[in-house]
Amino acid sequence: MKSFSVVAALAAVGSVLATPTPSDELVARASTTGSSTLPTITTKGNAFWNGNSRFYIRGVDYQPGGSSNLVDPLADSSICTRDIKYFSQLGINTVRVYTVDNTANHDACMTALAEAGMYLVLDVNTPLYSLNRASTHASYNAVYLQNVFATIDAFANYTNTLAFFSGNEVINDDATTAAAVYVKAVTRDMRQYIGNRGYRQIPVGYSAADVSSSRMEMAAYMNCGTTDERSDFFAFNDYSWCDPSSFTTSGWDQKVKNFTGYSIPIFLSEYGCITNTRTFQETGALYNSEMTGVYSGGLVYEYSSEGNGYGLVTISGNTVTTGSDFTALQSALANATAPSGDGGYLASGSPSTCPPQSSTWNVTSDALPAIPSAALAYSKSGAGKGQGLTGAGSQNAGETSTGTATAGSGAATQTASGTSSSSTSSSTSKSAANSLQGPADKKAILVGFVVVASTFLGTALL
Ligand SMILES: *[C@@H]1O[C@H](CO)[C@@H](O)[C@H](O)[C@H]1NC(C)=O
Ligand SMILES: *[C@@H]1O[C@H](CO)[C@@H](O)[C@H](O)[C@H]1NC(C)=O
Ligand SMILES: *[C@@H]1O[C@H](CO)[C@@H](O)[C@H](O)[C@H]1NC(C)=O
Ligand SMILES: *[C@@H]1O[C@H](CO)[C@@H](O)[C@H](O)[C@H]1NC(C)=O
Repeated sequence: MKSFSVVAALAAVGSVLATPTPSDELVARASTTGSSTLPTITTKGNAFWNGNSRFYIRGVDYQPGGSSNLVDPLADSSICTRDIKYFSQLGINTVRVYTVDNTANHDACMTALAEAGMYLVLDVNTPLYSLNRASTHASYNAVYLQNVFATIDAFANYTNTLAFFSGNEVINDDATTAAAVYVKAVTRDMRQYIGNRGYRQIPVGYSAADVSSSRMEMAAYMNCGTTDERSDFFAFNDYSWCDPSSFTTSGWDQKVKNFTGYSIPIFLSEYGCITNTRTFQETGALYNSEMTGVYSGGLVYEYSSEGNGYGLVTISGNTVTTGSDFTALQSALANATAPSGDGGYLASGSPSTCPPQSSTWNVTSDALPAIPSAALAYSKSGAGKGQGLTGAGSQNAGETSTGTATAGSGAATQTASGTSSSSTSSSTSKSAANSLQGPADKKAILVGFVVVASTFLGTALL
């Protein structure tokens, strides 16, 4: 997705809906006594765990309504229960939702997901409350963070909240890499908030666009620096395997090679190239021992047809019609048995070394902006009511950062429960560029997104 600098210039907020769109899911609350809780998922080394068993994400991206019609599918049980039966047929264990209404009640859908054995990976941004890649300093403010924290509050109690994405595709080309500083700050702030509020240590990470010229830098950057500055995992959207292909033809073998030694979990937050007929050969590779030492699964883009050709099903009212892609994925997942045991995971790798500035990586210092003081104050009192899918927006709305953070200042002052082990040592990949790029059709989607974003943001983007 390297080639949309124009999009980047126009759609400052691309991070929210850059590819998939909104929705989210609910899970039973940890405090609930019913049978609808799932074991919490933790991280250790470069893998996810369900107790002592390796956990692989087998999922789909779930945003019925698409990016142009924002709905929270986890706020309406008629929507989520309609779809959960198809999730079960697919044989998945996770859905990703891109935007939720943090003022809505998600108990019914989160419980229904839990009862079906499914976890949620949730993006915390909305088109109105998100970083603006063209105006990072102004959009990293207390009003924005308040809404992010309110979303954490709304989902932290569910045991099937697997992870939070701090952002999606905020950086999408060479010209926008400087925004990584703010993506990393938001990730830090979310982790600190979770700790300070005494929540379970729900993993927080970033969902990156697969920008070939800075793929390794982006990954290294999110896993370098002090403990408080480093992510719990890293994810990226990858459309480089287009059936018919292979582990080597797709270049996935090179990515595995380059990410070997990376000390935190990696998974694909979107995959499923549609250039040719999808047979999901890559699903077989993803859960095979050739990849499981480095990757922890992925999410197929996307569940429902939203006009861009990626849907597994077509939805009309309450009727869901499965397509050939649905059947192909169902078969591929059924055939993709992960290796027994730990899958060859890396128990204790070293954090990455922060990448040097280069012509394709415009981050000049390892220092991060300090959290705005009003945002830090939410750690003590809670974030309060969220803004939902409406609100006045945060792009230029609030108290911004006034200085550089002292390394370590983002550490939680209180230890959250359910802490996962952190990784320890190994070396980092910080090499640069590679030559893989997202498919052309993704560009079309992104252009469509620009229109959507522009609608939400009005002239602010231009
Ligand atoms: C989460 O659980 C705590 C403890 O039971 C409770 O005080 C809090 O209100 C819950 N949060 C939500 C959003 O339900
Ligand atoms: C690098 O980022 C800075 C902002 O931190 C910006 O002013 C500058 O124009 C960027 N340089 C390039 C080459 O994109
Ligand atoms: C099923 O998985 C095996 C082992 O990975 C693979 O060799 C075979 O091609 C797969 N079959 C189908 C139909 O995908
Ligand atoms: C892997 O790393 C090498 C060396 O830095 C780089 O040239 C290549 O482009 C990378 N490949 C991928 C797929 O990231």
